[in-house]
Amino acid sequence: AQKSLKEAYKDYFPIGVAVSPRSVAGPEVELIKQQFSSITPENAMKMGPIHPEKNVYNWKDADAIVAFGEANGIKVRGHTLCWHNQTPKWFFTDSLGAQVSREELLARLKQHITDVMTHYKGKIYAWDVVNEAVPDTGKGIYRESKFYQIIGEDYIEKAFEYAHAVDPDAKLFYNDYNTESAVKRNKIFQLVTKLKEKNVPIHGVGLQAHWSIYEPTQAELEESIMQFASLGLAVQITELDVSVYPKEHERRQKKEGEGSTFTPEMKQKQAAHYKMIFDTFRKHKGAITGVTFWNVSDKTTWLDNFPVPGRKDYPLLFDQNFKPKKAFDGVVNF
Ligand code: XIL
Repeated sequence: AQKSLKEAYKDYFPIGVAVSPRSVAGPEVELIKQQFSSITPENAMKMGPIHPEKNVYNWKDADAIVAFGEANGIKVRGHTLCWHNQTPKWFFTDSLGAQVSREELLARLKQHITDVMTHYKGKIYAWDVVNEAVPDTGKGIYRESKFYQIIGEDYIEKAFEYAHAVDPDAKLFYNDYNTESAVKRNKIFQLVTKLKEKNVPIHGVGLQAHWSIYEPTQAELEESIMQFASLGLAVQITELDVSVYPKEHERRQKKEGEGSTFTPEMKQKQAAHYKMIFDTFRKHKGAITGVTFWNVSDKTTWLDNFPVPGRKDYPLLFDQNFKPKKAFDGVVNF
């Protein structure tokens, strides 16, 4: 019989997958149990879903995912405590609709982090504390988010401090995408270097790894892994998928006839790319302490219709019938 992902990588790092309350109760369950040793709630622990109104928490969805993990011996990664997306408006406004003060926003951030992490204390081995705080381009290293505008740059260190105070055993991560582009990578590097210098309790950097069959190159990938590891930080691959479309497609309208087909050439290219990626991960065993895929199979991926409406994508190792793809072989056989 063919090895599973988690068997193949048991001496390297846990292999995770992003899940929803539906996916842990639906047709993908067997595949999740068979292949993965870690799960990340795809949306259920984000501010909007879990904390929709002031002092109102919706634990149901995230609880179902954590319970599934516990019942099946699968570890749970937490995602995410502080992000500019999927955060409700109330978080930044008072009861009259005016923007809250720095002190009030810090108090709310602290309350949020404390409540969520206390609820799951001891059940989550790693948390994405701050997500996507760095801009892709431009001069500065801080994204112009509401957190940054209202609190200032120290919202990031505060978030880590609040988190560490609640659960000193959880590994705390800064998580971001496009970490292979030199510009963005250097910004993130500056940010985490500052945090380390100030003794902020940060333990690792999450590379989201929303890649495509055209990127990154092995050199770019190795450079990011080694650069962050050089600071004594763990590196986790937190949201891996390999789109079959080039990234430039995101920046222009879908062309007639473009997209939604998974050609033999794409399959071949994807298999080769996945092999390169995992060869590289294994080479940096030690620096890398986890690899998580963003969704289970090509049947449902967040990349369907995103960023190009009407376009189907095929970014994972299992096909629409949950069968291992060509790319799977090169990942488990080494
Ligand atoms: C995505 C989810 O997969 C979607 O279901 C949701 O609609 C939007 O968010 N970076 C992140 C993830 O850190 O939380 C995002 O997840 C994908 C990009």
